[in-house]
Amino acid sequence: MQNLIKIANKVAEKIEKKVKSEDRSKFGNYIGMGADGTETQYIDKIAEDVALNTIKKEGNILSEEAGFIDNGKEYTFIIDPIDGTRNAVNGIPFYAVSVAIGKKMLNDVEYGIVKNIPTGDTYYAIKGKGAFLNGRKINVRNDGQSIYCLSLGKSGDEKTWGLARKNTIRAMGAAALEMCLVASGACSFYFISRDILRVTDLAASTLIVREAGGEVYDVYGSRLEMPLNLEKRSCVFATSGMKEGII
Ligand code: IPD
Ligand code: CA
Repeated sequence: MQNLIKIANKVAEKIEKKVKSEDRSKFGNYIGMGADGTETQYIDKIAEDVALNTIKKEGNILSEEAGFIDNGKEYTFIIDPIDGTRNAVNGIPFYAVSVAIGKKMLNDVEYGIVKNIPTGDTYYAIKGKGAFLNGRKINVRNDGQSIYCLSLGKSGDEKTWGLARKNTIRAMGAAALEMCLVASGACSFYFISRDILRVTDLAASTLIVREAGGEVYDVYGSRLEMPLNLEKRSCVFATSGMKEGII
């Protein structure tokens, strides 16, 4: 596992460097169709290429654009090369690379790292050993104060609009990072009410939230579980603890 963790960290570092070295005006160019059925943009492609070239055959790979690459290994790297592509393309400095290491299901993920590319802030968690931000242990907040991180726009529904009307909210457009804000105590929860997120978006950040003392559910109140494939999409409620009034 130690060697695989080193590789995951290297992927995150190299993607940060590569993206920062590129001309932003090219980020939004369309390159083709990804394995998840959405169009791949230039920034997604260059970031994923870095991941594939770094991991080589050290593990299986499940990545948003390339899909599943079976290298006959016990562990799989679950990668979103860029979470928050729309932010990156439009120059909104809130997007990340997300890498997790697991076997077959979300709940057997053993390591996760999410790196905010513009700031360099790095969240990571090792199963059973806690969650960290830039090397310092983090915990979800427990002071009852609430900033609600919601997925609004086309991903919202009546429940989301209801929460938005009554509370202090943020909506930032990069689910992995928004979940990490719950883990670090910056926000008290993240909510996306429709079945939109793939396991690549949330594998690392789910472990990070749980290791920080929070929990991740679907919107029906079941502890979130997903297979490691790109077919399944899910709603998500990541919380520091409170559930009442939301699910
Ligand atoms: C997107 C972001 C966004 C969420 C979208 C995702 P992507 O991921 O996480 O916050 O609302 O549904 O697709 O496409 O930038 O990797
Ligand atoms: Ca992505």
